[in-house]
Amino acid sequence: MAEIVIVQNADAAGELVADAILRLVARTPDAVLGLATGSTPLSSYQALAAKVAAQRVDLGSVRGFALDEYVGIPVEHPESYRSVINREVVQPLGMNPELVHVPNGALDGIQTAGDEYEAAILAAGGIDLQILGIGRTGHVGFNEPGSSLSSLTRTKTLTEQTRIDNARFFDSIDEVPVHCITQGLGTILRARHLVLLAFGEAKADAIAAAVEGPVTASQPGSVIQLHPHATVIVDEAAASKLANIDYYRHVWNTRFDWEEL
Ligand code: F6R
Repeated sequence: MAEIVIVQNADAAGELVADAILRLVARTPDAVLGLATGSTPLSSYQALAAKVAAQRVDLGSVRGFALDEYVGIPVEHPESYRSVINREVVQPLGMNPELVHVPNGALDGIQTAGDEYEAAILAAGGIDLQILGIGRTGHVGFNEPGSSLSSLTRTKTLTEQTRIDNARFFDSIDEVPVHCITQGLGTILRARHLVLLAFGEAKADAIAAAVEGPVTASQPGSVIQLHPHATVIVDEAAASKLANIDYYRHVWNTRFDWEEL
């Protein structure tokens, strides 16, 4: 079972994630992070940036792999995930941009971009800690419902629901790309630690399906049930449809001193 941690709000989650990353980097200064974009991980990146500044931690050797990228959007576009990762992760954390990879969403070479990304992750020794959000469709990365549970990085077609949800970052829905390139569910399963974050009522169904539903390609988030070290950090609203919520609270409140995320 994944460890389910129910927190007051996104800021409290951010503190937990930032502390977990700092412990990892203290053990492994060139640790490999898997980086989600979107609204959900922002509090984690902000908490980490604050701690890095206050504790004068150097993240210059930490390596990173973004989960996904839009296809056919210029990298200089402010909403390309390359731009988002630079703005929200690399710069505030003082990471070395050359060590932070984003799938190549350029149309030219798109057929081989997935394999190249997989090779780069393998060459880095794999991802130590993968931060995940979850979409209302249940997607993790951009693995929309129906994605193979063993899929690797490849192009996908976004659902209309996901394009509608992401239209808030663009001037209109017509600007939201139709295609993306995303780490697969199999890629995500290879990471050594998964940290899935979700906040707000709109994520409650997806979280209940991911944590307590059957493992099925129809609910890509359910792939976390196959992982030996998955942590799910949710606020009360996102946790509101979990049947075993009392047990999850009990497990967290009675954890051993030595247990970390
Ligand atoms: C982002 C990603 C997506 C998002 C998901 C939730 O890199 O892979 O799975 O995590 O769409 O998005 P937000 O956090 O904006 O609700």
